[in-house]
Amino acid sequence: MVNLTQQLSYQQQTLFFENFSIQKLAEKIGTPFYCYSQRAIVDNIKQCQTAFSDPRFHIHYALKANSNLSILKIVAAQNLSADIVSIGEMQRALLAGFSSQQIIFSGVGKTSSEIQQAMQQGVGQFNIESAEELELLIQLAADANHTVNAMIRVNPEVSISTHKNITTGAKGNKFGVRLDQVLKMLHSAKNTQVKIQGLAMHIGSQIQQTTPYLAAIDKLLLHIEMFKTEGFILNNIDLGGGFGISYGQEKSLTFTQFSDVIMQKLKDWKGKIYIEPGRSIIADAGLLITPITYIKHAEPRPFVILEAAMNDLMRPALYQAIHPIITVAQKQGEQQYDVVGPVCESTDTFEKKAKLPALLTPGELVCFLYAGAYCAVMSNSYNSRNIISEVLVNGEEASCIRTAIKQQDLLQFETQPYQLLS
Ligand code: LLP
Repeated sequence: MVNLTQQLSYQQQTLFFENFSIQKLAEKIGTPFYCYSQRAIVDNIKQCQTAFSDPRFHIHYALKANSNLSILKIVAAQNLSADIVSIGEMQRALLAGFSSQQIIFSGVGKTSSEIQQAMQQGVGQFNIESAEELELLIQLAADANHTVNAMIRVNPEVSISTHKNITTGAKGNKFGVRLDQVLKMLHSAKNTQVKIQGLAMHIGSQIQQTTPYLAAIDKLLLHIEMFKTEGFILNNIDLGGGFGISYGQEKSLTFTQFSDVIMQKLKDWKGKIYIEPGRSIIADAGLLITPITYIKHAEPRPFVILEAAMNDLMRPALYQAIHPIITVAQKQGEQQYDVVGPVCESTDTFEKKAKLPALLTPGELVCFLYAGAYCAVMSNSYNSRNIISEVLVNGEEASCIRTAIKQQDLLQFETQPYQLLS
């Protein structure tokens, strides 16, 4: 039995999200589609704000988890700030109502043009990921005669047990600067228009323990003390995101459990403490709804072939992630199936040996849970498939917050008259 996520319930044997029948929404919007609950998002944000209510904390939502404009407007209205990794995300953040001062610009490969645009907009803070980036930033800030606030993102080289594709603070990861390189960078930034305010880290995603945070914070604090003796005062610290959630199977920590241990460790810290949660704010507030196309009889198990595919939901193919699947019509009985999509790749497999009701029929709807974070944002049009629509439910209101991007839309970019390049 799969536990239902927030705002989901069966009413008269059919699945409801807030006050809406998923079956009815599907008939209106067309399938497959993503669907989010505003109440669930706001609830997650409130829990995060309560846990991190100590005034030293500043919560910056990591846009990469879900940057749909309507979702960002909800997040901005709840007074969170923003963490971005591209100019595209900056444009979205500004449109959604975040002020430029509220934005932290992270990312390992910011281009000159991105840095210049972010400076022009007055982005609040740059998290610098290399000595080379610092050099460029110093140059561009001098050229523009502009003072910028920055932090150096370090790689604290701690190990975490999460999927290997989502660790970012271990030896050999491309992110951040080695702690023994920071002093040199502080010297190069001295007397320039780049004002280094502190150290930042982001050690990975879907982290289910507090120990790696504590180990990493220890390393940061130790170095900050050392830099003080060299005359560099770093007042602020950015812990990144990464707070793990339960995808239905594993046990996860609550925001409060994370904040309690972090606060204990930083009890004497006087400056600001930034955090950048993404997944924990939005993952369980989203669903992916899709019809079944075929039940293909096969050995050792039947395949359930869905209309949705890996291009719509990449996490199973990329990280072997399991998103629990439930039927929209409530049914009894149980049988094992391999649930797959129609794309011509064997990795287009959502779950092997998935337990679903014994009687499934082509055309009926199933629903993937925990599909709010890193799902719609990572979708693409592989196999010339459409990019599917997104819907938001909020109390008595349901709205389409992104219409499907269809082949005829994409084809426009290929059927314009050729632009000769030589
Ligand atoms: N801050 C920085 C600098 C980051 O790189 C990330 C995520 C976050 C914050 C937010 O982390 P979160 O709280 O969401 O764990 N596509 C993968 C996850 C990649 C995360 C990348 N960085 C997935 O679907 O699991």
